[in-house]
Amino acid sequence: MTEIRLLSDEAQFRTHTSVFRRAMHMRIPDDEQWQVVLPSYEPDRVLAAFDGDEMIGTTQSYASSLVVPGGAMVPHSAVSRVGVRADYTRRGVLTALMREQLEKLPDPVATLRASEGRIYGRFGYGLAGRWRTVEINAKRAVIPGEMAGRVRMIDQDTADKLLPELHEAVGLTRPGQIGRWAGWWARARDRKSDAENSVTVVHSGPDGDDGFLTYKVAEEKDFEHRMSIQDLVAANDDAWRDLWIYAARLDLIDHIEVDVALDDPVSWLFEDPRVVYTKDVFDEIWLRLVDVPRMLQARTYGVADPVVIEVQDRLLPANNGRYRVSPDGAERVDAPADLTIPVGLLAATYFGDTTFSQLAAAKRIEGTRLADADALFAVPRKPICGTFF
Ligand SMILES: CC(C)(COP(=O)(O)OP(=O)(O)OC[C@H]1O[C@@H](n2cnc3c(N)ncnc32)[C@H](O)[C@@H]1OP(=O)(O)O)[C@@H](O)C(=O)NCCC(=O)NCCS
Repeated sequence: MTEIRLLSDEAQFRTHTSVFRRAMHMRIPDDEQWQVVLPSYEPDRVLAAFDGDEMIGTTQSYASSLVVPGGAMVPHSAVSRVGVRADYTRRGVLTALMREQLEKLPDPVATLRASEGRIYGRFGYGLAGRWRTVEINAKRAVIPGEMAGRVRMIDQDTADKLLPELHEAVGLTRPGQIGRWAGWWARARDRKSDAENSVTVVHSGPDGDDGFLTYKVAEEKDFEHRMSIQDLVAANDDAWRDLWIYAARLDLIDHIEVDVALDDPVSWLFEDPRVVYTKDVFDEIWLRLVDVPRMLQARTYGVADPVVIEVQDRLLPANNGRYRVSPDGAERVDAPADLTIPVGLLAATYFGDTTFSQLAAAKRIEGTRLADADALFAVPRKPICGTFF
C-alpha cells in the first residue's frame, strides 16, 4: 500500500534526493555535495511515497513567483525532484504523489520541467512555453553601433552577493519568468565553481545596474572556443543589446550558444541575420493552473468580444465551471459555454504560446468563437522562463 508523507528532517531529505537521483540515473551526492543540495529543501513542500518504511517515490516544490501576461506576479510553486523507484513504477505511485501535492500546494499556480512529454498532461499540466536554442557564428557576427551603457566584469564573490537581488529587481519582466529561491542560487554557485571559467558581467544604464550576463567558454579545438550563455537578464532593450555587443565582440570565440524565447529578436541585432541559426526548439514550461479563477483574473486580455469558456478539471473539481473572459478580465458565470477545454490545455494557451484555434484544429478541444478566444489570450511577447530547476 502506498502512503504519502510530508518530510521534515534532513535524513529524510537525503533519502529523498537519493531516490530521485537514482530514478533519473544521476550520481548520488557525497557528504560535501549534500551540503549544497540541503538548502534546496523547504520543509512544508517535500513529499514522498512509502511502502512501509521504504521511500519509493518523491516530489517537492520551491516557493517562487511567476510573471503572467500583463506583468502581474503571482505566488508560484516550482515543482521538482519527481521520481519513482524503478522497482515500483507503473503502479500508481506518481499518481498518488501528484494528487496529494496538488491538493496541498499553497500557491495558485505550479510549473515544472518534464523529462518526458507524456507524463504530466494527465495531472492537468500543459505545455505552456517553449524555447529555442540558437547558435551564432561569432566570427561573422557584427553588431553595428556602440553601447548605450556600460558593461563591467565582476568576480564570483561579488556575483554571489549581487545577482540574487539584481535578478529580483530586473529579471522578472517577461511572462513565464520566475523568482529564484535561495537554494537555486546555492546550486548555481556550485555549478559555476565547477566550471572555472564561468564569467559574469553586469550592465549599467542611466538608472544603475539593469542587466547581467553569465557565460562559460570551452575550447573545442586549438584557439577555437564555444561560448555558452547561461543567463542573459536585461530590464530594457539597451541593456539587452549592450550585453549582446559584449558577447559578439569577445576575442577568440567562434560559436555562441544560448536558449531564447521563440520570438526573441536576436537575429536583428546583426548586420547579417543569417549568423543566427536555430538548432532546436524544446518545451520548457509545463504549467498547472491550480486555482483557475484566480489565475484567469491575474492576467490581462486582448481586445475581442467576450467568450465563455468551460473548464474541466478532474483532479481539482473546484476549478470546474464556466468563465467569461473579456478585455476587462475574467469571472465565473452561469451562461452557456462557447468552448470547452480541459485544464491542462487551458494552461497551454495561458501564456499565448498555443492558440485555441490550433487546439481545435488538432481536435483537442471543441467549440465556437475560436478567433475571439485567440485574440483575448494573444500576447505581445512569447513566454520564456530561463531558470532551470
Ligand atoms: C515518470 C515516473 C515518475 C512515473 O511514475 P509511475 O509511478 O510509474 O507513474 P504512475 O504509475 O502513477 O503512472 C500514471 C500513468 O502515467 C503513465 N506514465 C507514467 N510515466 C510514463 C512515462 N514515462 N511515459 C508514458 N506514460 C507514463 C502510466 O502508464 C500510467 O498510465 P495509466 O494510468 O493509463 O495506466 C517514473 O517512471 C520515473 O521515476 N521515471 C524516471 C524519472 C523521471 O523521468 N522523473 C520525472 C522527472 S520530470
